[in-house]
Amino acid sequence: MTDQNLKELLADMSLREKIGQMLQLPAGIYLEPGSREAVTGPDSDMKLTDEDLDNAGSILGTWGPALDHIQKEQMAKQPHHIPMLFMLDVINGFRTVYPAPLGIGASFDPELARDCASMAANEAALSGVHVTFSPMADLCRDARWGRVMEGTGEDPYLNGLMAAAMVEGYQGSGMQKYGCGKICACIKHFAAYGAATAGRDYTAAQLSEHTLREFYLSGYKAAVDAGVGMVMTSFNTVDDIPATANRKLMRDILRKELGFDGVLISDYGAIRETIAHGYAADKEEAARKALEAGVDIDMCSDCYSAYLEQQVKNGGIDEKLIDEAVLRILTLKNRLGLFEHPYRYADSKKAEQYILCPENRALARKAARESFVLLKNRENILPIAADQGETIAFIGPYTDNRSMLSSWTIVGEEKDVVTIREAVQELEENGQTAGVAGADGNTTHFLFARGCPVIGRNETFYTYDNREAAALSDQDLARMEAEALNAAKRADRVVLCVGEHFLQSGESTSRTELLLPEVQLNLLRKVAEVNPNIVTVLFTGRPLDLREVKKYSKAILVVWFPGTEAGHAITDVLFGKEAPQGKLPMSFPYCTGQEPISYNEFSSGRPMPEGQHIRFFSGYLDAPNEPLYPFGYGLTYSEFRLSEAKLDRTVIHSGETARISAVLENTGKRKGTETVQLYIRDVAASCVRPVRELKGFRKVTLAPGESRTVEFSIGEEQLSFLRADGTVGTEPGEFRIFLGLSGADGKMTKLRLE
Ligand code: GLC
Repeated sequence: MTDQNLKELLADMSLREKIGQMLQLPAGIYLEPGSREAVTGPDSDMKLTDEDLDNAGSILGTWGPALDHIQKEQMAKQPHHIPMLFMLDVINGFRTVYPAPLGIGASFDPELARDCASMAANEAALSGVHVTFSPMADLCRDARWGRVMEGTGEDPYLNGLMAAAMVEGYQGSGMQKYGCGKICACIKHFAAYGAATAGRDYTAAQLSEHTLREFYLSGYKAAVDAGVGMVMTSFNTVDDIPATANRKLMRDILRKELGFDGVLISDYGAIRETIAHGYAADKEEAARKALEAGVDIDMCSDCYSAYLEQQVKNGGIDEKLIDEAVLRILTLKNRLGLFEHPYRYADSKKAEQYILCPENRALARKAARESFVLLKNRENILPIAADQGETIAFIGPYTDNRSMLSSWTIVGEEKDVVTIREAVQELEENGQTAGVAGADGNTTHFLFARGCPVIGRNETFYTYDNREAAALSDQDLARMEAEALNAAKRADRVVLCVGEHFLQSGESTSRTELLLPEVQLNLLRKVAEVNPNIVTVLFTGRPLDLREVKKYSKAILVVWFPGTEAGHAITDVLFGKEAPQGKLPMSFPYCTGQEPISYNEFSSGRPMPEGQHIRFFSGYLDAPNEPLYPFGYGLTYSEFRLSEAKLDRTVIHSGETARISAVLENTGKRKGTETVQLYIRDVAASCVRPVRELKGFRKVTLAPGESRTVEFSIGEEQLSFLRADGTVGTEPGEFRIFLGLSGADGKMTKLRLE
């Protein structure tokens, strides 16, 4: 269809029909009972007529051949036979599942993020999906908020790179042509959902407009610049107005300033929720305010479908607002090729061959490995040589557990997941755990013991999954523990596989204590009494308070929720086939009380000297200011040395660039990958600036003894910021430059801008 055709179609549509395009309904309404459907929001009191069902422009929450049937039926009933849009949350893979996005952030590898999104898009497109509600670009600084799992962390620069890469992966090269087997991406949640009060969902975001613009918008902006086809509103308020009905945020900032001309969809029921926020008296007002803010699609509420038509007829709403929304929706359908190909790439036969194919599994395995972050490795207890005849005890609730997919995994199935135990047994079967020709003295023995449940037996775990809660008796618990301690006593080393329950992160999972479940900490303490050689493999969707884990473990490997190839990736790294290379995308706090915490905070009028506690300086009585593990931190199996950084000039003028370089050397005994990070601090400016800001990074792989010069340029792009007068640019003065291997590392050099 040409743009002219679209305009003619729009002109020919009735008001009812147009409003129908602005309605998105749960797929369940159109599915046969018992079909697979992802329900991602609360039940609501939608009053829908048959005409609404026939006119609905899109549905969310299902995939596969059922969509062909729905499309066929829907187009037959729709007065102009306009095809439906099919949307789904595909956020860390479709059926082949890769790490939760926080793990992808830890890879510091945008190319990897792009490849993973591209693979997910192909699997989803073959299964009839047109739009994914991903990437989430919310800046996340508060680990009490369980949705940090869905983002790529606390840094605006990394967030922006990752968001753009994922959009390009989902939508395919040359953005305009979704029709290369790709799908439309949807950046979310606009805006600043990561700043929700006290880490709770659906609340207010309390931040200045300067902070919003300077730090929180960068991820969304990068996605818009990458050509994202859709934006989703956020549940929170911004400047005390619900984002979903916030005209300034949506029309002035998103559309005018950022130049977004695609479809704006509400989050699940968010238009209706402006009533509960106290911004609309009823659904009629909610509908009007959201439309005036420029929201095109009402996800899973009947505000638009039941309360727009009358307001247009009585002159309360200008029909032009509806026409512009519907034209954007029709334009997206046209860019996806739906008018000519309403079934697009849906092809169940091809899907069967492609989905979960070895290449996709290999990519998921690689992504999982790159996401792992090694926080500690005392005495180089890792990697474990699998052929030295040791006895290795794998202990803990994740030893033999398929629940290693993030909680937003909808299509991926646990039955496809490779467990740690299965991966170890594969090594044994392949003869990779025997030394000299399998001489018995050199054959490594493996023991496996669950030790305890993930969350315990009696806790009322606020979720819809309580497989653990009912099954275990006191005797069961005692027996599990005894088996584990017996294995620990017999072992040379213990690999303790512990972590959050996979449903303890994601939507509606805010926590006030960022600790491992007590039943697991208890197991850790008891194992440590009988065996000091503990390697902890940690599953988590968020930063946790790891003080006890650090106290009892010689090594800590954070694996997030690694996905379908979890077991293979974990043994690849534990036994040294590959070395860990991830870096923390979020600070791991000393304790929950430090939250929200991030490396790029503002200073204060009395900054506390690191590691000290001085009265009348900014700090706590009961905790340090520093996190337990900082942003950008992560070890590998080799040692690296970074030389003093050199600036090719110490003064630059506007428009000039300086170059900073240092030599990275692999001083260890094995190949390794290190990530050199460039941070700057603007010492004095027209508004306060963070104590550090990430402005670049380089992943470098070096052989033992090899060294390489790593270089960055520093100019307008790196030194510009949102000045107090609202313009973006540089200001003369001193800048402190840090080249290091984490957000708390690196010697400082000075650069003046004159
Ligand atoms: C949920 C989430 C959003 C998701 C949407 C559709 O409430 O907030 O991230 O994409 O509903 O499932």
